[in-house]
Amino acid sequence: MTKHPRTLEWIGGPDGHVRMIEQTLLPTRHEDIDVRTVPDMVDAIRRLAVRGAPAIGVSAAFGVVLGVQEHAAGNADQAIQAALTAADELATSRPTAVNLFWALDRMRAFAKGLAGAADGAAVLDALHLEAKAICDDDADRCRRMGEFGATLISSGQTILTHCNAGALATAGMGTALAPVYTAHDQGKRVAVFADETRPLLQGARITAWELSQAGIDVTVITDGMAARVMGEGKIDAVFVGSDRITAAGDVCNKIGTYGVAIAAKHHGIPFYCVAPLSTVDPDLLSGDEIPIEQRNPSEIVNGLGKQITPDGVAVYNPAFDVTPAALVTAIITEVGIIEAPNEAKMRAALARGRAAE
Ligand code: MRU
Repeated sequence: MTKHPRTLEWIGGPDGHVRMIEQTLLPTRHEDIDVRTVPDMVDAIRRLAVRGAPAIGVSAAFGVVLGVQEHAAGNADQAIQAALTAADELATSRPTAVNLFWALDRMRAFAKGLAGAADGAAVLDALHLEAKAICDDDADRCRRMGEFGATLISSGQTILTHCNAGALATAGMGTALAPVYTAHDQGKRVAVFADETRPLLQGARITAWELSQAGIDVTVITDGMAARVMGEGKIDAVFVGSDRITAAGDVCNKIGTYGVAIAAKHHGIPFYCVAPLSTVDPDLLSGDEIPIEQRNPSEIVNGLGKQITPDGVAVYNPAFDVTPAALVTAIITEVGIIEAPNEAKMRAALARGRAAE
């Protein structure tokens, strides 16, 4: 079985802290950082020390626990209020990945249910266990998505992926890369083309790093090469993750994914999105309603370690785009494969997920 990097974990008991891989340093340095306060967790999420929708959700859940620690000596109400305040602060870290809000809503509801607990320490203990359950649950969802997704991969195939939706984007083996790892563990020969993913190069830096660590054949291409490589017949399927999927099956993911989906459609290549149901936003139907994070132009202006645009030239830097459901061959979740997604099928999957909880 492939051993995956531990993206983040809780160290110690309820008064402990979070240890996470500092992803901004990859691939040249593999170092951990310790996160001990809510502002530090907000900062870690915002500057992409931890990134990828499920990993952001798990980080936020742990962040709520950090926010309660200094109120553990008080009464239960004070600790619950501290949890709600921490959740509000963590919700400001990034706008697009709905897993963040999903995890915070779960922690908020759980905290409110603790009214009447003996004291602040009891609230802290219970929230600590709930956050750990969210973390373990994420790893389990990844494993199940991997099993479903691997049925779509035959030995000898080559997969194209965009951004990083691997172990480093989750608390488990990843979303889009979970089928690749599972197929590899089943003895299938699988190769991956990784789009470098401008401007922050999650594909070149992170996907290529974790796949090569796992011994999987990976080739990095620049984003503009994806259509060419498909046209050359080198790609059998596209697997990507998602930051938010609407109830109608529109898929929001890292900027550039939409173009990959259009190119895949043109070349008759299946385009799969792999995501847990915590990525589905049941309140939105159209991808146009998804808030798209706008990041600092400096990520482009000073990209690749030096100034790459002329002084004074405008730069536009949306971090995500939306692939309409019509371009998505199937969405692979922890409850099964949703082919040709639409609202009825998405809502049925959500219901199956709730029934399984
Ligand atoms: O800006 P990032 O690095 O957080 O963007 C990550 C992505 O777009 C991933 O593809 C997405 O979160 C799915 S991760 C399992």
